[in-house]
Amino acid sequence: MKLHRLAFCLSLMGAYIAVAATTEPIQPIVAVRVEKPNLVELGKKLFFDPRLSKSGVISCNSCHNLSMGGSDNLTSSVGHLWKEGPINSPTVLNSSLSLAQFWDGRAKDLQAQAGGPIDNPGEMASTHRLAVEVLQSIPGYVAEFNAVFCEDRITIDEVTLAIAAFEKTLSTPNSRFDQWLMGNKKAISTEELAGYALFKSSACVACHDGPAAGGKSYQKMGLVTPYVTSNTAQGRVGVTHDEADRFKFKVPTLRNVELTYPYFHDGAAATLKDAVNTMGRIQLGKTFSDTESGQILAFLKTLTGEQPSFKLPLLPPSSDNTPRPQPFARK
Ligand code: HEC
Ligand code: HEC
Repeated sequence: MKLHRLAFCLSLMGAYIAVAATTEPIQPIVAVRVEKPNLVELGKKLFFDPRLSKSGVISCNSCHNLSMGGSDNLTSSVGHLWKEGPINSPTVLNSSLSLAQFWDGRAKDLQAQAGGPIDNPGEMASTHRLAVEVLQSIPGYVAEFNAVFCEDRITIDEVTLAIAAFEKTLSTPNSRFDQWLMGNKKAISTEELAGYALFKSSACVACHDGPAAGGKSYQKMGLVTPYVTSNTAQGRVGVTHDEADRFKFKVPTLRNVELTYPYFHDGAAATLKDAVNTMGRIQLGKTFSDTESGQILAFLKTLTGEQPSFKLPLLPPSSDNTPRPQPFARK
């Protein structure tokens, strides 16, 4: 009888602890378990391989540099023939936690996204056919695709599946904030904690919540005060054709935000302090004092997690039959 009661109380306590851990609007990032290491390894090679671009110069990593928080730290990306892209490059870190991909959510998941840049004339400027032809001409890739997919012919779906599998491993657990969430009360300082309290009481968490501190919804940029920009992107309306979605963008993750400057879809906020003050003003109608924005800034920097760490992949060499890279515009 006593034992039963004890078991019952323990189960109640367990439930209580579980509830306590989830009452915070931001939850810890769970480390990813790699289930198909060969598929992930192949995806990693493809992510780093500039031969997926027409020029032979640009890889996914060019604009989503994993040594720099999975972004390029440019206002807008530089694509094929040094062309300026239309929009800021979001980080690929933790992107599997988002409800969809791209600022306007036009790709439903990572695999659907990965085909986009390869044949985007302003990015990698190849075609899916050419990219597959290049891979098919490289014996090392043929053998590796064969080992992973048990098929001789490489397809673009296999390419994007492998890239997506690799991207799913790009999570950043164990930030100081997550350590705090999991009970280590010394993991963040009094100032950082004050910043988190302010982040909650100012209602930043209304949009930046969940494990990614964002990525869960599309929201109007300039909810309270219109956002002024020369960038022509109109956001979610391009996908839904619903006027109510004009100038709504996917709420970006704030994980690793310290590393992914400059900020906003137009890259117009050069510093995190700019971004925080602008958010306060246009989303919430608030003007933060220097102390307050300093506290929020300190809190945001505790969201930097363990960065993906691995051996740089060695790419199999091209063969005599590999279509040659075309880095320059020829008359
Ligand atoms: C020339 C620069 C460039 C290259 C190369 C590039 N990207 Fe991107 N990437 C961007 C930009 C810019 C966006 C945002 C575009 C938009 O939202 O309209 C983006 C968006 C994404 C997103 C969505 C992230 C989010 O939070 O919405 C993912 C994932 C991604 N890219 C992965 C890749 C992969 C995989 C490759 C290689 C196959 C690649 N990118 C190549 C610039 C680039
Ligand atoms: C109504 C929803 C909403 C609220 C409230 C909100 N944000 Fe945002 N936040 C967004 C959206 C949407 C974006 C992206 C907008 C864009 O670039 O067009 C964004 C972008 C950001 C960025 C830039 C991230 C990046 O990678 O470009 C930061 C930093 C940020 N918010 C911090 C905050 C802070 C701090 C608060 C509270 C003071 C806050 N946000 C309140 C919706 C919101």
